[in-house]
Amino acid sequence: MILKIKQKIFSIIYPIIDKFSFKENNSLRSFITYQTNGNILEIGAGAGANYNYYKNYNNLILVDNNIDLLKQNKIDKQCLLILANSEYLPFKKSEFDSIVTSLVLCSVNDVKKTLSEIDRVLKPTGIYFFWEHTVIKNNFIYVIKKLFIFIWKFFTGNCNYNIDNLYHIHKIKWGKLEIHNKHSKFVKFFGMYYIYGKINKNNY
Ligand SMILES: C[S@@+](CC[C@H](N)C(=O)[O-])C[C@H]1O[C@@H](n2cnc3c(N)ncnc32)[C@H](O)[C@@H]1O
Repeated sequence: MILKIKQKIFSIIYPIIDKFSFKENNSLRSFITYQTNGNILEIGAGAGANYNYYKNYNNLILVDNNIDLLKQNKIDKQCLLILANSEYLPFKKSEFDSIVTSLVLCSVNDVKKTLSEIDRVLKPTGIYFFWEHTVIKNNFIYVIKKLFIFIWKFFTGNCNYNIDNLYHIHKIKWGKLEIHNKHSKFVKFFGMYYIYGKINKNNY
């Protein structure tokens, strides 16, 4: 029940935040999508902020565990929306050429399980594209943020702003990692910065 309420609130708040940050996020959304092709899976697609960036695909599947956000998608026939949890993806092994997540790992309950599911459903020749935020290592800011984390999580769809996604991404051993940083004033205010890049399974 509480989860449903939190998801409903987030489905109202997030599209507003996304609109507000459209300009700043445009290049990052382009980066994580411009090389995708074939069978594409986006996990935690929400209301479809990346949807218009996909140009080259056979099948595009958008997965999210928030029905209120999924319902806001405006899609065409070649795209499928699926209500599912990233920790138990309803797909067979090696189904996808490209997998995308943007600002999702901070909200899932089990990052390790989500990343192992990505590995499972990604083809041996596939690429995982990510854009996530990670914590700025500063003990003072970390502790202050810890005090407010329950309020923050309540309104932001369970987002953990203290998550060390740099650590999680570097722990992946099933592909070759390319990673970049982006510091933005808005996310820096909350003690975070962006990391984005790709993990290429091919020839690994
Ligand atoms: C901050 S929003 C990002 C939405 C979109 N990817 C974007 O770039 O704007 C995080 C999204 O991840 C989804 N999400 C969180 N945990 C999830 C899970 N375990 N399985 C599937 N989706 C999840 C949320 O419902 C939400 O749509």
